[in-house]
Amino acid sequence: MKISVIGLGYVGMCQAAGLAKSGHDVIGVDIDKKKIENINNKIPPIYEKGLKELLIDVVPDKLQATNNLKEAVLKTDLSFICVGTPSKKEGSMSMVQLKNVARDIGRAIKQKESKHYVITKSTIVPGTSEEIVIKTIEEHSGKKFPDDFGVGMNPEFLREGTAIIDFFNPDRIVIGSSDKDTVEIAEKIYREFNCAILKTSLKEAEMIKYASNALLATKISFINEIGNICKKYNINTNLVAEGVGLDSRISPKFLRSGIGFGGSCFPKDVNAIVYKATELGYNPRLLRAVLEVNRDQPLKLLEILENHCPLKNKKIGVLGLTFKAGTDDIRESPALNTIKELLMEEAELYIYDPKAMGKVKKIFPHLNYLDSAEKVIKKSEIILILTEWDEFKELDYGKKLVIDGKNVFNHSKPENYEGICW
Ligand code: UGA
Repeated sequence: MKISVIGLGYVGMCQAAGLAKSGHDVIGVDIDKKKIENINNKIPPIYEKGLKELLIDVVPDKLQATNNLKEAVLKTDLSFICVGTPSKKEGSMSMVQLKNVARDIGRAIKQKESKHYVITKSTIVPGTSEEIVIKTIEEHSGKKFPDDFGVGMNPEFLREGTAIIDFFNPDRIVIGSSDKDTVEIAEKIYREFNCAILKTSLKEAEMIKYASNALLATKISFINEIGNICKKYNINTNLVAEGVGLDSRISPKFLRSGIGFGGSCFPKDVNAIVYKATELGYNPRLLRAVLEVNRDQPLKLLEILENHCPLKNKKIGVLGLTFKAGTDDIRESPALNTIKELLMEEAELYIYDPKAMGKVKKIFPHLNYLDSAEKVIKKSEIILILTEWDEFKELDYGKKLVIDGKNVFNHSKPENYEGICW
């Protein structure tokens, strides 16, 4: 099938490359000219395991990138919308990019005779496909849904760092639409995937994404709260989590305690659904508590640190900056808030991360960035581990105090060690 993928961030890039590898003819669209040039030269615009190899394989025969949305839409049967829906200050989401893309698709399909299909993968609160995507396309194309064009919602469940593996091995595929042609065409695209396909309304598909992320975030705040209680008892949270996770109704996944969840999804999505629920007249107490526990969790690390010594002028090593290992993404990373707090306490920081130092330098230009974890250990009196990079497990920390915010050590721990909640 001929498919355009609009918006080449994490989601769009993996969707475009994955569909191309599955045999479709894909045109990726983005407004960023440098990104387009890189993709067409087989250079991934983001760090994601396996993406480089995939681009080498599919560009240019099966995947090409362009900034000409109109041409891409006219040359294809179906467009996936994968643009960002970033948080606004108060927690709601910005719909600017989504509206612009729907407008441009509308203008493009005005000239098209055959029925064009538009499927959103961006995370959008229930009602958005109907109120924004369909309405905007109708307004700018003069055409009517569902007779002249189709609209669907197909939420993504990819994790950064394993997005390519996740793309080819989904647990389920959700297709929401009230238009049977759209459902049929989406099913055709995912025919080869060996997993359950759930067909729903547009709103249900939109909500499934929020409910999934909210539940995963809830599991993390839950185990962090249990961990904080375990720490008071001086018992091993990891064994408690293991004992709980062995119950097949619960599963061991997402029960790893630490400094809390970050990234571009959980904080934004839980905030957005809290905001929307409140707007609808419902007070989502549980989800508010999930965010509250998460907001305070990095502070636990500082409490532990302060129990050991005053922080003023203390030489503190920071290992890890990304919100999790396997990515160069620092969005909502708990490490950044920890750095801010440490700077307020006037600590002297030595910093290392294998992937994200360039990005963090732009935010905190005057810190001591070192090019290896070993150098950080050498310079510092106390070491904080803020991302679970494998290389941090193997280091010789000597007798220096190591405070672990990411549950990095399974068996052999450094001599002088304390975990955030274990
Ligand atoms: C998450 C979801 O897992 C994906 O299914 C979803 O598609 C994606 O958001 C999205 O909405 O786009 P991602 O943000 O890439 O994926 O990362 P996760 O692996 O879910 O981790 C999120 C955060 O939770 C990280 O900071 C991680 O360190 C933390 N986490 C995860 C824990 O603290 N404990 C755990 O047990 C698991």
